[in-house]
Amino acid sequence: MQENTTQHLTSVFANEVREGLTSFPKYLSSKYFYDETGDRLFQQIMDMPEYYLTDSELEILLDHVAEIAKLFSHKDEDFSLFELGAGDGKKTKILLRHLIDNGYRFDYRPIDISQNALDSLEKTLIKELPPITINPLQGTYFETLAAIGKQQEKRKVILFLGSNIGNLLHPNAISFLRQLKDVMAPDDLLFMGMDQKKHPQVVLDAYNDKTGITEAFNKNVLQRINMELGGNFDLEGFLHWEVYDPENGTAKSYLVSKKAQEVFIDALDLGVSFKPWETIHTEISQKYDDEVVKWLANEAGLQILTSFEDKKGYFKDYIFKKN
Ligand code: AVJ
Repeated sequence: MQENTTQHLTSVFANEVREGLTSFPKYLSSKYFYDETGDRLFQQIMDMPEYYLTDSELEILLDHVAEIAKLFSHKDEDFSLFELGAGDGKKTKILLRHLIDNGYRFDYRPIDISQNALDSLEKTLIKELPPITINPLQGTYFETLAAIGKQQEKRKVILFLGSNIGNLLHPNAISFLRQLKDVMAPDDLLFMGMDQKKHPQVVLDAYNDKTGITEAFNKNVLQRINMELGGNFDLEGFLHWEVYDPENGTAKSYLVSKKAQEVFIDALDLGVSFKPWETIHTEISQKYDDEVVKWLANEAGLQILTSFEDKKGYFKDYIFKKN
């Protein structure tokens, strides 16, 4: 990443930390979980048996890849496959391999905020799927949307896997979907993973593993404040707490202060005091059903073309097009 971009992101982080920790109730954004440590912890989360989301979506892609590919493109046309938040590409590789083996004409355009992540993804894909054409785009979702929109010659398919949209409250999800709709041409498609409502215990267990990986992931935001903003959070002074409301399908993560404590953050010249059992809300992981997805899509000017689910009915991938 370029120096000025790094500095800019640091000040955005600083401002949001100030905003969140001086509010009542306190909050921090889950987008700050993901630095190198956070990425590694999230990889471990995806490997946990309790974290069913990854296995379910992998199963959907494996079982339906041919059908999905046919919906993406007729073989005689070029198209671009964009992917927001590409990560390690484990799930995407299933699709890419099928597209390549079956003579589809496309380029793969992974989008990620981390140039590092993009570089290593590009390296592994060139090694494992040699004929692939890969044109990465570095930036935030917001920054790269404009670049996506400029591409009008070729059909576009946009992937957004893993129920990443679940980190957004409904109004924010709608405005995000609307921004995607605005860069889509009438023939373009949006392929999106959305975790489904299910037995509340299954959801709770996915965000509450006994081994403490999710706890470490949640606390990584405090660790980042310590490292990057000169904070002195005592990580042992907080516990990870998960709640799931089956009525609205919202799972919420908190860090709860186990005692009265004072924290100082040098870069903000800010003291923050915690009462015993005071909370910092850090993440939402929204669960959906068809009715809610239909409503979100409609509000955003999109419609559901079709959807695919795993055998347990835990997870769905929806294909949207413009209304
Ligand atoms: C990457 C946002 C989909 O909310 O399920 C995993 C992140 N948080 N365990 C999710 C996460 C705690 C994950 N997403």
